[in-house]
Amino acid sequence: MRKQIAAANWKMNLTFQQGEKLLDDILRADIRLKSHRHAVFAVPFPYLLMARSEVEEETNYYVAAQNCYHKKNGAFTGEVSAEMLHSLAIPYCIIGHSERREHFHETNAMLSEKLDLCLEHFITPIFCCGEPLPIREAGTQNQFVELQLKESLFHLSADQAKMVVIAYEPIWAIGTGKTATSAQAQEMHAFVRSILASQYGPEVAGEFSILYGGSVKANNATELFACPDVDGGLVGGASLVATDFIEIMKALK
Ligand code: 13P
Repeated sequence: MRKQIAAANWKMNLTFQQGEKLLDDILRADIRLKSHRHAVFAVPFPYLLMARSEVEEETNYYVAAQNCYHKKNGAFTGEVSAEMLHSLAIPYCIIGHSERREHFHETNAMLSEKLDLCLEHFITPIFCCGEPLPIREAGTQNQFVELQLKESLFHLSADQAKMVVIAYEPIWAIGTGKTATSAQAQEMHAFVRSILASQYGPEVAGEFSILYGGSVKANNATELFACPDVDGGLVGGASLVATDFIEIMKALK
């Protein structure tokens, strides 16, 4: 079975102490994850080592960075490279979150460089795609997401590409409380898998974990994750509340 992932994206929230307590509270629930299930915590850069040591003893619990820079190294004050993350043994990194595309003007071309750098440094990218509301209203979401994948991912070989986790996050569902219905999520996930199949063949496409993101909550995770092409979630707000995230972890297939 392909990997089923509950990924917490803390974004720019919580103090160090609050973050430490949140992880302690989640770990205290002692959820044992079977080998195909992963819990991933994408924490702010300064908390990476703390989070890594919190989850170190746990099986299938991992830490992620929320971003890395699209250049290898050099005079880029304030940025963090994939190589630096690798030197801290960080196994996952979110790439191309819609907030970064919007506020930091990240383009599909920049994201393709980030994917290369992550893969070069053995970091599993969680590559985000998803359409804004006007595109959904115009009914052109499939073409929009296809272009994001084509321009950032499709230069990779099949062996490289299948290391990537994809997160479909419709922008209109992020932080709005307006979740995509499970039918809408399944439809887009199946479409994403079909374009992966046309590029890499059905066998490789079947190996991709495709996460859904956008107002995943304790009370809708089970229904969303039950969809055949939804392999878990990338969770913002509900990942900041231990009891909620615990329920979301339990909802994994
Ligand atoms: P919310 O779960 O708060 O809608 O955020 C989703 C998200 O952006 C995760 O990356």
